[in-house]
Amino acid sequence: MSLKDEIARRRTFAIISHPDAGKTTLTEKLLLFGGAIHVAGAVKSNKIKKTATSDWMEIEKQRGISVATSVMGFNYGDYKINILDTPGHQDFAEDTYRTLTAVDSVIIVVDVAKGVERQTRKLMEVCRMRNTPVIIFVNKLDREGRDPFDILDELESELKIKVRPLSWPINIGEKFKGVYNIFEHSLDLFTPDKQRVSERVEIDSVDDPRIDEAVGETDASKLREDLELIEGVYPEFNVDEYLKGQVAPVFFGSALNTFGVKELLDCFVKIAPAPRPTQSEERIINPDEDGFSGFVFKIHANMDPNHRSCIAFVKICSGKFERNAPYKQIRTGKTLKFAAPTAFMAQKKNVVDEAYPGDIVGIPDTGNFKIGDTLTSGENLHFKGLPSFSPEMFKYIENADPMKSKQLDKGIQQLMDEGVAQLFTNQFNGRRIIGTVGQLQFEVIQYRLEHEYGAQCRWEPISLYKACWIESDDAEALAAFKKRKFQFMATDREGRDVFLADSGYVLQMAQNDFPKIRFHFTSEF
Ligand code: G4P
Repeated sequence: MSLKDEIARRRTFAIISHPDAGKTTLTEKLLLFGGAIHVAGAVKSNKIKKTATSDWMEIEKQRGISVATSVMGFNYGDYKINILDTPGHQDFAEDTYRTLTAVDSVIIVVDVAKGVERQTRKLMEVCRMRNTPVIIFVNKLDREGRDPFDILDELESELKIKVRPLSWPINIGEKFKGVYNIFEHSLDLFTPDKQRVSERVEIDSVDDPRIDEAVGETDASKLREDLELIEGVYPEFNVDEYLKGQVAPVFFGSALNTFGVKELLDCFVKIAPAPRPTQSEERIINPDEDGFSGFVFKIHANMDPNHRSCIAFVKICSGKFERNAPYKQIRTGKTLKFAAPTAFMAQKKNVVDEAYPGDIVGIPDTGNFKIGDTLTSGENLHFKGLPSFSPEMFKYIENADPMKSKQLDKGIQQLMDEGVAQLFTNQFNGRRIIGTVGQLQFEVIQYRLEHEYGAQCRWEPISLYKACWIESDDAEALAAFKKRKFQFMATDREGRDVFLADSGYVLQMAQNDFPKIRFHFTSEF
């Protein structure tokens, strides 16, 4: 198969949701359809249980297990599908943001009873920044939930994207009878069964009397009314708008009952984008270029304290990746060869000889890679866009064992390279501040510093609201701002200016007082 054909058949995406909306269940059902697993329940070990929040060692162990399921590749018809897993626990949201830089599209799962929840809103922001095409799956229709029209309104207003239903439920909860597939004009009747696929009723159009026979006259006429309303309110679905990230098609179903999942998958492979061009600092890279290029979007550390081994996950952006071929690591200028790159098929990790754009390869690493590293066949390229978001929790990190300061410095540096948390250095007093999205990460850092680097750290409180990256076209204004706020100025790891606002009020005042300064809440601007 030619490189172009290999690219055209690939679909690399992530499923995102607020915890408990049904991401794991949906993933599992997609794998079942792809023949990648044969029994339901096989993916469950991947899930970080809510109950384990206080026991982060357990979470790390589970994260260890999830290396194998970090990427799930399988064939579905002519398509090669790569699902990139994202951690369910919100303390690891930063991992999820980075994973989103490696996908070509996204499926968002929303619980019909709960609607749009906090985590989903945040993840959607990342998708919006990158114009990532999204499909929404409204899940748990077998349970009592909200009116589907209300859900659509909420999706539109909360996720700030136009929506277009491509399937429509007939009732909900106990009375749930099935889904009318607007995309294909077919009717699927719901049979609550975790393993079996639903029953399809052959129909010609929405006026077909077989619908009345199948669901009863009352529900059939309600369905017709609903569909008429949909046609009146929502413009015709336009694939190009979807591909530009302007409209999100919406499907309804029940992942647990394998209902509506195949419809979602069939539509997904048809409309979702194949690997797309990637923007580098130098130029746009097309996937079908001969030269290989890719970037590291995730580093997964092993929790074994005896040897520091990691897997660096490389997303292939262009060309063919080959085992043992010499590739240039742009940051260091070194030429590296990879003897044992792994790919992920059907939940198994195998050494691969070649891989194509859209694929992810895992490269065993002993600390050579940093998040965001670019690899190429030789050309000097730097991929943009591994965004850091303003952390939500901050602490000073102090050395608790003066004899081990070198170990501490090395440990902090490597853990930050891995993307465990963000480091800011206060420009005024030189103190180091670690920013995270959850308490767990502080515990992880402390444990790993001790066990992998033999260093002891101590946390000291600092009350901060947000870290914002600042810039201005007016050098004088920037200097004036930095002078006024000198106690609250820090640099990130790339040496960029960051303002540490200690309250929302202070931030707002700063924005009012310094109109020439731009405040960014993500490092990608
Ligand atoms: P997550 O990965 O997004 O966190 O969610 P997950 O798939 O683990 O699903 C969360 C819970 O919702 C699970 O129940 C799962 O069985 C249930 N669920 C998923 N899809 C559906 C659906 O379509 N209908 C109904 N009624 N429930 C659904 P749990 O009790 O937390 O876990 P488990 O004990 O069943 O594994």
